[in-house]
Amino acid sequence: MRIACLLMVCLFGVAGTKAQNVEVHLQTKGAAIQSTMYGVFFEDINFAADGGLYAELVKNRSFEFDNPLMGWEAFGNVSILTQKPCFPNNPHFARLSFSNELSGSGFENSGFRGMGILQNEQYNVYFYARNVISVSDTVKLKIELLTSDNTVIQSKVVSIFGTDWRKYETSLASWQTTKQGRLRISLVNKGVLDIDHISMFPQNTYKKRKNGLRNDLAQALETMKPGIFRFPGGCIVEGSTLATRYQWKNTIGPVENRPTIINRWNYTFGHRRFPDYYQSFGLGFYEYFLLSEDIGAAPLPVINCGLSCQFENFDDKQHCAPENLQPYIDDALDLIEFANGSTATKWGKIRADMGHPAPFNLKFLAVGNEQWKEPYAKRLPLFIKAIREKYPNINIIGSSGPGPEGDKFEYGWTEMKKNAVDLVDEHFYKSPEWFLKNVNRYDQYSRQGPKVFAGEYACHVSNRSNNLESALCEAALMTGFERNADVVHMTAYAPLFAHVDNWQWKPDLIWFDNVQMVKTPNYYVQALFAQNKGDYVIPFLNSTNPSQPIAGQDSLYASAVVDSANHTIILKIVNVGNVNKDIQCTLIGYTSTAHMPEITQTELRAEHRNWVNSIDKPNEVVPRQYKLMMEKNQLKIKLKKSSFNMIKIVLQ
Ligand code: AHR
Repeated sequence: MRIACLLMVCLFGVAGTKAQNVEVHLQTKGAAIQSTMYGVFFEDINFAADGGLYAELVKNRSFEFDNPLMGWEAFGNVSILTQKPCFPNNPHFARLSFSNELSGSGFENSGFRGMGILQNEQYNVYFYARNVISVSDTVKLKIELLTSDNTVIQSKVVSIFGTDWRKYETSLASWQTTKQGRLRISLVNKGVLDIDHISMFPQNTYKKRKNGLRNDLAQALETMKPGIFRFPGGCIVEGSTLATRYQWKNTIGPVENRPTIINRWNYTFGHRRFPDYYQSFGLGFYEYFLLSEDIGAAPLPVINCGLSCQFENFDDKQHCAPENLQPYIDDALDLIEFANGSTATKWGKIRADMGHPAPFNLKFLAVGNEQWKEPYAKRLPLFIKAIREKYPNINIIGSSGPGPEGDKFEYGWTEMKKNAVDLVDEHFYKSPEWFLKNVNRYDQYSRQGPKVFAGEYACHVSNRSNNLESALCEAALMTGFERNADVVHMTAYAPLFAHVDNWQWKPDLIWFDNVQMVKTPNYYVQALFAQNKGDYVIPFLNSTNPSQPIAGQDSLYASAVVDSANHTIILKIVNVGNVNKDIQCTLIGYTSTAHMPEITQTELRAEHRNWVNSIDKPNEVVPRQYKLMMEKNQLKIKLKKSSFNMIKIVLQ
């Protein structure tokens, strides 16, 4: 995280409004904080996977979109065929036939509304090709990397020989950055050839992996230190129909043979349609597990429970009948074997063959996404029975429906308790008022029974921007999560990523274009909580009313934790009000030593609560750090209007 470090010594006794007295009880050990407490939720929405995190630059690389040449601008003699394909699950391929020397035959791919090409980067290009006419002829293909104004950045010629499908590889170097790059492929001499799966990746993917991820975006996740990684959705798990549901088995093995399907966010919102939005599944379940491991998060896959999207399908016939669920249940059990099974098992061996003999240590599995009422109640128990029997140590997550209150929610929670799931997934996309009103929500929850997974949430301000106000309301609610860490075991903001030109849903945690990304104020709040979650809660109270947590009085919301390993006390305080406030904090149970504790205040604020970060102005709302000093056990803290503050007290 980029922190402007302003060394400002905030002395005890600064003039201002009369300080409110608060107290932190260092010796009163509260609930343990789970390592999973603050996580991330990834769904392929807003071009988050293809055209986003997945670093592939070629769109429709296998010619499998409904319009097989979508994304390709062809010239000369180009046709699409399916006879004797290279990859049976992606049977279409292109045939380039020489037309004439002047205009030539070939095509250009413009990526996902432009290819993001970086200066001083190498690009690995590979494709499969065969000669059509004769074994002895060699056909030459020119591969060119172009800028938007048609300047050739680099060009290479590859010779294609033989009439069998073969893999060809080359690389192109870039000396300039462009957001609108293109890849051109054309025949150089006479001949006819077939070509398929045309792929181009930067060499510098995250951790330099092949078939890898965009470095800046994956790095932003790692920096957050998330405790869980929930994937692959979201509504995408359910599908608009069962045929288009997410089937993890189609997303593993050689990328060339993972069948491409339409993305449901292609057409879901009539006012923001994206006809070129498909899923190549190049970023599939193996890659999701690997990413979880790379960023240090516990993997949390969501599997389809036999229901297609309940928002779109009202008739039970559109779902899989409970008596026919076995293949869905097998998918769940096989997934656990894929993640955790030894290399002697069928699915464990597939994982090992893909490059990861060690298990992925899967502990959590969500059965269904946003499911509700009888259709879910009839199906969930069948999954629970099978999973508990075979894998009793897996923690099962059930759904409480699409919203955090009302009929579906109440019904859902009753069912989840009856079925003794381990965690219940709650989703809330709500107004600032709702967020602030619900800070105490979990104070009332039963301490027995399933724990809470706030699996998708975001504060929706009226224009649904990622402004400071939304981030502050989320921070306020998160102090309520933290105070109730005995009940709330997992949380995740949603959605995670959005391409600035290709989004369907906002707000989103991280925005990006083809070459840059921007962290929202909401990202900084999530990151500050996740990086500083501590390991147990301590009481943080208002001295005049010590029976109450600080949860809205005078527009302040607060929580406190201890990070034992680092001998650190961490206070999180949100001032959602429009005036600056001073508080005087007594550390009860602190005995001063010869060494002064090192104290920092990290502050997230801006001039106006409607400020946002953007690609052009990414640093409008970023954390800044100050040093504070304590006198005996007293700490004076300035809380500026509309600010989130984290105070770290490192005891020597
Ligand atoms: O996060 C966007 C969508 O919101 C998710 O797909 C779904 O679970 C919820 O309705």
